[in-house]
Amino acid sequence: MLNIVLFGPPGAGKGTQSERLIEKYNLVHLSTGDIFRANIKMETDLGILAKTYIDQGLLVPDSVTIEMLRSELNKKKDVFGFIFDGFPRTNAQAAALDEVLESLNSSISSMIALEVDEAELKRRLLHRSISSGRADDADIKIIENRIAVYNKETSPVKAFYQNQNKFISINGSGTIDEITSRLFTAIDTKIA
Ligand code: AP5
Ligand code: MG
Repeated sequence: MLNIVLFGPPGAGKGTQSERLIEKYNLVHLSTGDIFRANIKMETDLGILAKTYIDQGLLVPDSVTIEMLRSELNKKKDVFGFIFDGFPRTNAQAAALDEVLESLNSSISSMIALEVDEAELKRRLLHRSISSGRADDADIKIIENRIAVYNKETSPVKAFYQNQNKFISINGSGTIDEITSRLFTAIDTKIA
């Protein structure tokens, strides 16, 4: 299996680039943010709980997030692989992911991190707020909180994959096409 963790701060382009990667490599896209938002829309218990964290730009608790991901993974067997977008966001999530994949006789191939400077992240998210309908895009204070949470709680996950020799860093600034082509090169090199 080809299992990629597409990593990066809010607005780095994880969702945008995931769409292209799943098409080229025939992978399944697993975005925890998208799954939470679908649950919020359907007003499930999970959605109602998650919304209280997401609207403030805070992480949903690990126990809830890990259980959700485990059940999503178990629903989708016999696939070529996964793009994990927005997961793992803590070292506890990363350890849990290794464990679930091992139970499926698989593992993470690489973590690819999109590096984008903070001013550009804010520009992109504020621009998206015009059309996204996402409460967490609508307020610069919440955007700043999401970035701060990323720096404090999520960025350390890079070291988890560095220690496994699976970490790749990519320049996430430029046009969407330029970044896609950097990602294709990184993945093709990995597969070769
Ligand atoms: P999540 O949905 O994962 O949001 P996020 O990480 O904050 O990131 P975004 O989805 O906003 O950005 P992205 O990197 O996907 O960029 P995109 O391609 O959209 O998580 C939301 C919340 O859910 C979290 O805050 C947390 O509360 C909760 N959550 C989720 N996962 C969790 C977990 N594992 N544990 C705990 N809690 C969790 O691009 C952004 C914008 O920029 C778009 O408008 C796009 O068109 C544009 N754009 C993209 N690339 C470019 C480019 N190259 N040039 C110009 N514009 C570009
Ligand atoms: Mg996204």
